[in-house]
Amino acid sequence: MDQTAWWKRAIVYQIYPLSFKDSNHDGIGDLPGIISELDYLQKLGVDVIWLSPVYRSPMDDNGYDIADYYQIDPIFGTLDDMKRLLTEVHKRKMRLIMDLVINHTSDEHIWFKESRKDVHSPYRDYYLWRKEPTAVDSIFGGSAWTLDPQTNMYYFHLFSKRQPDLNWHHQPLRQAIYDMVNWWLDLGIDGFRLDVIDLIGKDIDKMQFADGPYLNTYLKELYDTCFKGRDIMTVGEMPGLSIERAREITGGKHPFLNMVFQFAHVGLDEVQGQGKWALRQLDVNEFKHTFEKLQHAMHHGGWNSLFLSNHDQPRVVSRYGSEHYRKASAKMLATILYGMQGTPYIYQGEEIGMTGIKMPIENYRDLETRQIYTILQEKGWKEEDIMRSIYAKSRDNSRTPFQWNDHEYAGFSMHEPWLQVNPNYKTLNAETDRSDRDGVYPYYQELIKLRKSHRIFDEGDFQLIFEDHPKLFAYKRSYQGQTVLIIGSFSDLPITLDLTDYPFSKILLSNDHSVKLAQHMTIPPYYAAIII
Ligand code: GLC
Ligand code: CA
Repeated sequence: MDQTAWWKRAIVYQIYPLSFKDSNHDGIGDLPGIISELDYLQKLGVDVIWLSPVYRSPMDDNGYDIADYYQIDPIFGTLDDMKRLLTEVHKRKMRLIMDLVINHTSDEHIWFKESRKDVHSPYRDYYLWRKEPTAVDSIFGGSAWTLDPQTNMYYFHLFSKRQPDLNWHHQPLRQAIYDMVNWWLDLGIDGFRLDVIDLIGKDIDKMQFADGPYLNTYLKELYDTCFKGRDIMTVGEMPGLSIERAREITGGKHPFLNMVFQFAHVGLDEVQGQGKWALRQLDVNEFKHTFEKLQHAMHHGGWNSLFLSNHDQPRVVSRYGSEHYRKASAKMLATILYGMQGTPYIYQGEEIGMTGIKMPIENYRDLETRQIYTILQEKGWKEEDIMRSIYAKSRDNSRTPFQWNDHEYAGFSMHEPWLQVNPNYKTLNAETDRSDRDGVYPYYQELIKLRKSHRIFDEGDFQLIFEDHPKLFAYKRSYQGQTVLIIGSFSDLPITLDLTDYPFSKILLSNDHSVKLAQHMTIPPYYAAIII
């Protein structure tokens, strides 16, 4: 493997700053809070921290609505805190990447304030204005067009109406973005996660949005103007990209980005074509074949990012694992995920097996959840069905404050937090988990160590085994004559495996030490093992 491609071997940890750690006890997580927990991350084995947005923002979409790209929002701290964070991260031989939200800004960004004032403003074309709306829905629900009374024209927004889309066809706008990107890179940050970056090449008049006709052109320009020749890592959030295109962008002739996030495997609990709120039971076979496709597509050229959770996805234990077998299933999901080829991502709290939450609707803070509640009501959904979908899929599931210990507010803050703490914090928290021999965090540590010490995880090829088993996700990785088996059970019941056809000598790691390796082996619910 190319040694300069350090990002292929890096373990990435996503921090959602609002909910990680509050240092000044105003109920909101902040940069000094993050600095105070860097040792926690280092001990886990983290190499790269991805910070969700901390720029100045009215927080309509929790920072994914930026009002000033050059300033830190005062709720998080100051630019000096940011520089201190960077120094402290680098001191520990870790790196830091920031979130880059450049498909849209906040409606409070100075560009938009100027743009909306008058059709002749030099900033008018920084955004997308039309006399008539077209039939496009915003991703959060409702029309993607909002009429602005100041000039009596409509502006375009694929997300909330407080997140107007930027007009990437306008060269001065692109230049302003590149200047800003270079400013952050010159400050010493180690790269970016690029928010919904597959949308910047859209042609709204031709109704082409994700992976639009100009995507390659603009990505190339961004790469040439900002990324090229720098020792950084880039990961693009690209929900609308096909596997073939993902491979092209990360490994083909034009590797504009190091890797992308794809979403096929997180849409498997919804009725296809009906959006994320129409629930469906996960089919484990479909799940593993989705990963199989990605693993094969990216094995030669292209690179995968391995993730199950983030700030937009519900907690994976509650979603694809089992709250009843919480620790076992948290470890099982990590084992099958990080046994594959690609760069591993951990979302804050995943490493202690944090779970989803059920709250009365008034307690939800996420704008998507609040918006969909009304929309589904208007569509005539029954209250209990709406709430069942929200409990399962709301983004607030993963945004509740990090559970550090069993003190009030889970040790996140001494003040009532901006979003309710999960009531299970008394027993589920980092302090308890880390001192538990059976804890999730210690297992993550071992798993990370194991992954880093065997090249087979980076380089080996991937082949499913027990392919048609409805409750087993198992595969082998092979590299230079060596083979590793990775086994994960999604069953509430024991399963008996026939391993006669597979070479093996010992269990390198498992979530249940009472299970012994044998040709006919009975494994308990949510069992996971790496066998060599
Ligand atoms: C991305 C972010 C999400 C945000 C959206 C709009 O999908 O991950 O949190 O709401 O973009 O910026
Ligand atoms: Ca704070």
